[in-house]
Amino acid sequence: MDKYSGKLAVLCQSLSDKERSQELADRLDVPLYGFVGKECPESFFLSWRDGCLKLLDKELLKKGGLVVDIEPRNGEQRSWPAPKQDALAQALGRKTKTVVDATTGWGQDSLHIFRMGYDLLCIERSPVMAELLCDGFNRLLAEDWIQTLKLQPPQLLRGNAIELLQTLNTLPDCIYLDPMFPPKRKKSALAKKSMVVLRDLLGDDQDREQLFEVALKVSGKRVVVKSPDYAEPLGGKPSESYQGKLLRYDVYLKN
Ligand SMILES: C[S@@+](CC[C@H](N)C(=O)[O-])C[C@H]1O[C@@H](n2cnc3c(N)ncnc32)[C@H](O)[C@@H]1O
Repeated sequence: MDKYSGKLAVLCQSLSDKERSQELADRLDVPLYGFVGKECPESFFLSWRDGCLKLLDKELLKKGGLVVDIEPRNGEQRSWPAPKQDALAQALGRKTKTVVDATTGWGQDSLHIFRMGYDLLCIERSPVMAELLCDGFNRLLAEDWIQTLKLQPPQLLRGNAIELLQTLNTLPDCIYLDPMFPPKRKKSALAKKSMVVLRDLLGDDQDREQLFEVALKVSGKRVVVKSPDYAEPLGGKPSESYQGKLLRYDVYLKN
Protein backbone atom coordinates (compact mmCIF):
# COMPACT_ATOMS: atom_id res chain seq x y z
CA MET A 1 0.00 0.00 0.00
CA ASP A 2 1.25 3.48 -0.83
CA LYS A 3 2.44 5.43 2.22
CA TYR A 4 0.01 8.30 1.64
CA SER A 5 -2.99 6.08 1.07
CA GLY A 6 -5.89 7.28 3.24
CA LYS A 7 -3.66 10.00 4.72
CA LEU A 8 -3.23 12.67 2.04
CA ALA A 9 -5.29 14.13 -0.80
CA VAL A 10 -4.97 17.09 -3.15
CA LEU A 11 -7.71 19.69 -2.76
CA CYS A 12 -8.60 21.89 -5.72
CA GLN A 13 -11.06 24.71 -5.12
CA SER A 14 -10.40 26.80 -8.18
CA LEU A 15 -10.93 25.87 -11.81
CA SER A 16 -7.71 27.60 -12.81
CA ASP A 17 -5.71 25.20 -10.59
CA LYS A 18 -7.43 22.07 -11.91
CA GLU A 19 -4.67 20.94 -14.26
CA ARG A 20 -1.73 21.36 -11.90
CA SER A 21 -3.76 19.86 -9.04
CA GLN A 22 -4.50 16.77 -11.13
CA GLU A 23 -0.82 16.49 -12.08
CA LEU A 24 0.20 16.79 -8.43
CA ALA A 25 -2.35 14.15 -7.36
CA ASP A 26 -1.05 11.83 -10.11
CA ARG A 27 2.60 12.39 -9.12
CA LEU A 28 1.85 11.59 -5.48
CA ASP A 29 -0.70 8.89 -6.35
CA VAL A 30 -3.38 10.36 -4.06
CA PRO A 31 -7.02 11.39 -4.69
CA LEU A 32 -8.09 14.81 -5.94
CA TYR A 33 -11.07 16.45 -4.22
CA GLY A 34 -13.08 19.58 -4.94
CA PHE A 35 -14.15 19.85 -1.29
CA VAL A 36 -13.57 17.96 1.96
CA GLY A 37 -16.67 16.25 3.33
CA LYS A 38 -17.11 14.71 6.80
CA GLU A 39 -16.68 11.22 5.40
CA CYS A 40 -13.28 12.04 3.91
CA PRO A 41 -10.67 9.70 5.51
CA GLU A 42 -7.58 11.79 4.75
CA SER A 43 -6.09 14.05 7.43
CA PHE A 44 -3.74 16.09 5.20
CA PHE A 45 -4.31 18.07 2.02
CA LEU A 46 -2.15 19.88 -0.49
CA SER A 47 -3.80 22.84 -2.14
CA TRP A 48 -2.86 25.92 -4.15
CA ARG A 49 -4.00 29.00 -2.32
CA ASP A 50 -2.88 32.63 -2.71
CA GLY A 51 -0.35 31.62 -5.36
CA CYS A 52 1.46 29.11 -3.09
CA LEU A 53 1.27 25.36 -2.59
CA LYS A 54 0.01 24.84 0.97
CA LEU A 55 -0.16 21.87 3.32
CA LEU A 56 -3.32 21.72 5.41
CA ASP A 57 -4.61 19.51 8.16
CA LYS A 58 -8.32 19.48 9.03
CA GLU A 59 -7.78 22.34 11.50
CA LEU A 60 -6.19 24.50 8.77
CA LEU A 61 -8.79 23.78 6.07
CA LYS A 62 -10.69 27.00 6.72
CA LYS A 63 -7.85 29.12 8.12
CA GLY A 64 -5.17 28.86 5.48
CA GLY A 65 -2.30 26.40 5.39
CA LEU A 66 1.43 25.99 5.74
CA VAL A 67 3.91 27.05 3.06
CA VAL A 68 7.66 27.13 2.59
CA ASP A 69 8.30 30.63 3.90
CA ILE A 70 10.86 32.40 1.72
CA GLU A 71 10.99 35.60 3.78
CA PRO A 72 14.10 36.33 5.91
CA ARG A 73 13.78 35.41 9.58
CA ASN A 74 12.93 38.00 12.22
CA GLY A 75 15.98 40.15 12.78
CA GLU A 76 17.84 38.80 9.73
CA GLN A 77 19.43 41.52 7.60
CA ARG A 78 17.91 41.89 4.16
CA SER A 79 21.30 42.33 2.50
CA TRP A 80 22.88 39.48 0.53
CA PRO A 81 24.89 37.74 1.74
CA ALA A 82 23.43 38.22 5.23
CA PRO A 83 26.06 38.40 8.01
CA LYS A 84 27.32 35.04 9.30
CA GLN A 85 27.03 35.76 12.98
CA ASP A 86 24.52 33.46 14.68
CA ALA A 87 24.99 30.05 16.32
CA LEU A 88 24.18 28.25 13.05
CA ALA A 89 26.87 30.20 11.15
CA GLN A 90 29.38 29.51 13.92
CA ALA A 91 28.57 25.81 13.73
CA LEU A 92 28.92 25.75 9.93
CA GLY A 93 32.42 27.18 10.37
CA ARG A 94 34.28 30.22 9.09
CA LYS A 95 36.08 28.39 6.30
CA THR A 96 33.02 26.50 5.03
CA LYS A 97 31.88 27.35 1.51
CA THR A 98 29.81 24.36 0.39
CA VAL A 99 26.97 22.91 2.47
CA VAL A 100 24.58 20.01 1.89
CA ASP A 101 21.37 20.18 3.92
CA ALA A 102 20.45 16.50 3.99
CA THR A 103 17.15 17.01 5.86
CA THR A 104 15.61 20.07 4.21
CA GLY A 105 12.02 19.77 5.54
CA TRP A 106 10.34 23.20 5.44
CA GLY A 107 13.60 24.67 4.14
CA GLN A 108 13.88 27.25 6.90
CA ASP A 109 17.47 26.39 7.85
CA SER A 110 18.37 25.88 4.19
CA LEU A 111 17.03 29.27 3.17
CA HIS A 112 18.89 30.94 6.04
CA ILE A 113 22.10 29.14 4.97
CA PHE A 114 21.45 30.21 1.36
CA ARG A 115 20.87 33.84 2.37
CA MET A 116 24.18 33.85 4.26
CA GLY A 117 25.83 33.15 0.89
CA TYR A 118 26.92 29.52 1.25
CA ASP A 119 26.89 27.29 -1.81
CA LEU A 120 24.01 24.97 -0.87
CA LEU A 121 22.57 21.66 -2.06
CA CYS A 122 19.30 20.46 -0.50
CA ILE A 123 18.05 16.89 -0.06
CA GLU A 124 14.55 15.85 0.99
CA ARG A 125 13.04 12.39 0.92
CA SER A 126 9.39 13.13 1.61
CA PRO A 127 7.66 13.63 -1.76
CA VAL A 128 5.16 16.00 -0.11
CA MET A 129 7.87 18.19 1.40
CA ALA A 130 9.78 18.09 -1.89
CA GLU A 131 6.68 19.45 -3.71
CA LEU A 132 6.31 22.24 -1.14
CA LEU A 133 10.03 23.07 -1.39
CA CYS A 134 9.88 23.13 -5.15
CA ASP A 135 7.03 25.64 -4.99
CA GLY A 136 8.96 27.74 -2.42
CA PHE A 137 12.14 27.74 -4.51
CA ASN A 138 10.14 28.73 -7.62
CA ARG A 139 8.66 31.67 -5.70
CA LEU A 140 12.19 32.57 -4.55
CA LEU A 141 13.35 32.63 -8.17
CA ALA A 142 10.73 35.30 -8.91
CA GLU A 143 11.89 37.58 -6.06
CA ASP A 144 13.36 40.93 -7.14
CA TRP A 145 16.55 40.56 -5.10
CA ILE A 146 17.26 37.11 -6.56
CA GLN A 147 16.74 38.46 -10.09
CA THR A 148 18.81 41.59 -9.48
CA LEU A 149 21.69 39.61 -8.01
CA LYS A 150 21.30 36.93 -10.73
CA LEU A 151 21.17 34.17 -8.11
CA GLN A 152 19.72 30.70 -8.51
CA PRO A 153 17.69 29.09 -5.71
CA PRO A 154 19.38 26.05 -4.13
CA GLN A 155 19.27 22.79 -6.07
CA LEU A 156 16.93 20.19 -4.55
CA LEU A 157 17.60 16.45 -4.77
CA ARG A 158 14.59 14.27 -4.02
CA GLY A 159 15.33 11.01 -2.25
CA ASN A 160 16.98 9.40 0.76
CA ALA A 161 20.14 11.24 1.78
CA ILE A 162 21.62 7.99 3.11
CA GLU A 163 21.88 6.89 -0.52
CA LEU A 164 22.22 10.25 -2.29
CA LEU A 165 25.11 11.50 -0.14
CA GLN A 166 27.16 8.53 -1.31
CA THR A 167 26.71 9.49 -4.96
CA LEU A 168 27.95 13.12 -4.72
CA ASN A 169 30.72 13.99 -7.18
CA THR A 170 32.41 16.51 -4.88
CA LEU A 171 32.66 16.39 -1.11
CA PRO A 172 30.85 19.31 0.56
CA ASP A 173 32.78 21.12 3.30
CA CYS A 174 29.82 20.62 5.63
CA ILE A 175 26.80 18.34 5.83
CA TYR A 176 23.95 19.74 7.90
CA LEU A 177 21.45 17.42 9.59
CA ASP A 178 18.20 18.28 11.35
CA PRO A 179 16.35 14.98 11.59
CA MET A 180 13.14 14.58 13.54
CA PHE A 181 13.83 13.49 17.13
CA PRO A 182 11.10 12.03 19.35
CA PRO A 183 9.43 14.88 21.28
CA LYS A 184 10.11 15.30 24.99
CA ARG A 185 6.43 15.43 25.76
CA LYS A 186 3.60 14.19 23.57
CA LYS A 187 2.31 17.65 22.62
CA SER A 188 4.43 20.63 23.46
CA ALA A 189 2.75 24.03 23.60
CA LEU A 190 6.04 25.44 22.28
CA ALA A 191 6.15 23.33 19.13
CA LYS A 192 5.52 25.27 15.95
CA LYS A 193 2.44 24.23 13.97
CA SER A 194 4.60 23.51 10.90
CA MET A 195 6.73 21.05 12.88
CA VAL A 196 3.68 19.44 14.55
CA VAL A 197 2.12 18.82 11.13
CA LEU A 198 5.44 17.52 9.74
CA ARG A 199 5.74 15.06 12.62
CA ASP A 200 2.08 13.96 12.27
CA LEU A 201 2.57 13.43 8.54
CA LEU A 202 6.03 11.80 8.52
CA GLY A 203 6.79 10.55 12.04
CA ASP A 204 10.27 10.51 13.60
CA ASP A 205 13.36 9.87 11.49
CA GLN A 206 14.26 6.48 12.96
CA ASP A 207 17.29 6.06 10.71
CA ARG A 208 18.98 9.30 11.86
CA GLU A 209 22.01 7.44 13.30
CA GLN A 210 22.64 5.76 9.98
CA LEU A 211 22.28 9.13 8.24
CA PHE A 212 24.84 10.62 10.62
CA GLU A 213 27.33 7.81 9.93
CA VAL A 214 27.07 8.29 6.16
CA ALA A 215 27.29 12.08 6.52
CA LEU A 216 30.46 11.80 8.58
CA LYS A 217 31.97 9.48 6.01
CA VAL A 218 31.29 11.67 2.98
CA SER A 219 31.62 15.21 4.33
CA GLY A 220 34.83 17.06 3.51
CA LYS A 221 35.37 18.81 6.84
CA ARG A 222 32.45 18.67 9.24
CA VAL A 223 28.94 17.50 10.08
CA VAL A 224 26.58 19.77 11.98
CA VAL A 225 23.60 18.24 13.78
CA LYS A 226 20.76 20.38 15.04
CA SER A 227 19.19 18.74 18.11
CA PRO A 228 16.57 19.64 20.64
CA ASP A 229 18.39 20.59 23.87
CA TYR A 230 17.01 17.53 25.72
CA ALA A 231 18.32 14.98 23.16
CA GLU A 232 21.59 13.07 23.50
CA PRO A 233 24.16 14.06 20.83
CA LEU A 234 23.51 11.96 17.73
CA GLY A 235 27.14 11.02 17.09
CA GLY A 236 28.49 10.84 20.65
CA LYS A 237 30.57 13.65 22.13
CA PRO A 238 30.77 16.46 19.55
CA SER A 239 33.98 18.38 18.78
CA GLU A 240 32.15 21.66 19.41
CA SER A 241 28.61 22.66 20.35
CA TYR A 242 26.74 25.93 19.91
CA GLN A 243 23.65 26.77 21.90
CA GLY A 244 20.52 28.18 20.27
CA LYS A 245 17.05 28.74 21.74
CA LEU A 246 15.90 25.31 23.06
CA LEU A 247 18.32 23.64 20.64
CA ARG A 248 21.97 22.85 20.04
CA TYR A 249 24.18 22.67 17.01
CA ASP A 250 26.61 19.80 17.59
CA VAL A 251 29.67 19.93 15.35
CA TYR A 252 31.69 16.86 14.39
CA LEU A 253 35.00 17.75 12.79
CA LYS A 254 36.82 15.35 10.48
CA ASN A 255 40.48 14.71 11.27
C1 LIG B 1 12.90 18.31 11.32
S1 LIG B 1 12.65 18.35 9.60
C2 LIG B 1 13.85 19.51 9.04
C3 LIG B 1 13.44 20.92 9.23
C4 LIG B 1 14.34 21.90 8.50
N1 LIG B 1 15.66 21.97 9.09
C5 LIG B 1 13.74 23.28 8.42
O1 LIG B 1 14.41 24.26 8.76
O2 LIG B 1 12.58 23.40 7.98
C6 LIG B 1 13.34 16.85 9.03
C7 LIG B 1 13.18 16.61 7.53
O3 LIG B 1 14.24 15.78 7.10
C8 LIG B 1 13.78 14.83 6.20
N2 LIG B 1 14.67 13.67 6.28
C9 LIG B 1 14.96 12.94 7.38
N3 LIG B 1 15.81 11.95 7.10
C10 LIG B 1 16.10 12.06 5.76
C11 LIG B 1 16.91 11.32 4.88
N4 LIG B 1 17.59 10.24 5.27
N5 LIG B 1 16.98 11.71 3.58
C12 LIG B 1 16.28 12.82 3.17
N6 LIG B 1 15.46 13.54 3.95
C13 LIG B 1 15.38 13.17 5.25
C14 LIG B 1 12.36 14.53 6.67
O4 LIG B 1 11.58 14.00 5.61
C15 LIG B 1 11.89 15.89 7.15
O5 LIG B 1 11.26 16.59 6.11
